[in-house]
Amino acid sequence: AEQDQLLVGQIKKLLKEKNAAIVAHYYTSPIIQALAEETGGCVSDSLEMARFGKNHAAETLIVAGVKFMGETAKILSPEKRILMPTLEATCSLDIGCPIDQFNDFCDQHPDRTVVVYANTSAAVKARADWVVTSSIALEVVDHLDSLGEKILWAPDKHLGGYVQKQTGADVLCWDGSCIVHEEFKAQGIVDLKQVYPDAAVLVHPESPASVVELADMAGSTSQIIRAAKEMPNQQFIVATDQGIFYKMQQEVPDKELIVAPTAGSGATCRSCASCPWMGMNELQNLLQSLEFGLNEIQVDETLRVAAMKPLQRMLDFNA
Ligand code: 13P
Ligand code: SF4
Repeated sequence: AEQDQLLVGQIKKLLKEKNAAIVAHYYTSPIIQALAEETGGCVSDSLEMARFGKNHAAETLIVAGVKFMGETAKILSPEKRILMPTLEATCSLDIGCPIDQFNDFCDQHPDRTVVVYANTSAAVKARADWVVTSSIALEVVDHLDSLGEKILWAPDKHLGGYVQKQTGADVLCWDGSCIVHEEFKAQGIVDLKQVYPDAAVLVHPESPASVVELADMAGSTSQIIRAAKEMPNQQFIVATDQGIFYKMQQEVPDKELIVAPTAGSGATCRSCASCPWMGMNELQNLLQSLEFGLNEIQVDETLRVAAMKPLQRMLDFNA
């Protein structure tokens, strides 16, 4: 802890010297989230991270999250220097949607409007008509459906299936998934409900349909946190990465938050539901990237301009 305080002090000093701000996701460790908060950066979901980064006056942004979040920041703010604690932090959705195969898929369905989740590479975004995050996916697809458009959705099949069910739109899905949310088990939640019958179930829609069906509320990380505040329940069973508990518990200090089981029937799991890539963000590598300008995100300019269009459309849609 003493070592941590030393690092925190050095980071705070460098943030000022270098006119830099930290943009962190709710799934990073409590110490990173606290640091982002204390230093006037942001801790939020992927949509708000994009907004904050674009609107903030800092010359340098340290994006504590996974690679697509750094790329999104660069695409929206080419004039800023975008650094990340590590470039190794990726996402199974991004990995599972390589651009060549994705291009083939789009070519096979030219009649469909291409909507991609933010958890994708710059190249995949550049091929899309729309980028969405989980906060805004339903609204955008609902809007496109009302215009009579058919959707090609990538890469998360669970979120895509959920969006299809909720909006009734014609959605053709890519076969990708999040390795963290895919592990939640419906039976485990049913069993946990026996123990906590008054608990409301909050689920991120990257989870399998059988789990989302059990939800009292399904939504993005920010929507899950809001639900815990607004719903009258005193207990919540939460199916998303456990990093969310730091912020969520701050918001509802008197309520009980229970991580949804990822193993089979009855088992509660306190060490799972933790994204290995989000966990790569540490004080040490954050300090180093800030101090030496390491792990700068670069996006090819032609790609950047092409990827900016569907991203900007998302930001304007929600405005
Ligand atoms: P949101 O924070 O937008 O809900 O995204 C969840 C996620 O998996 C980011 O990695
Ligand atoms: Fe990707 Fe899932 Fe990790 Fe989010 S939690 S970064 S969707 S692997």
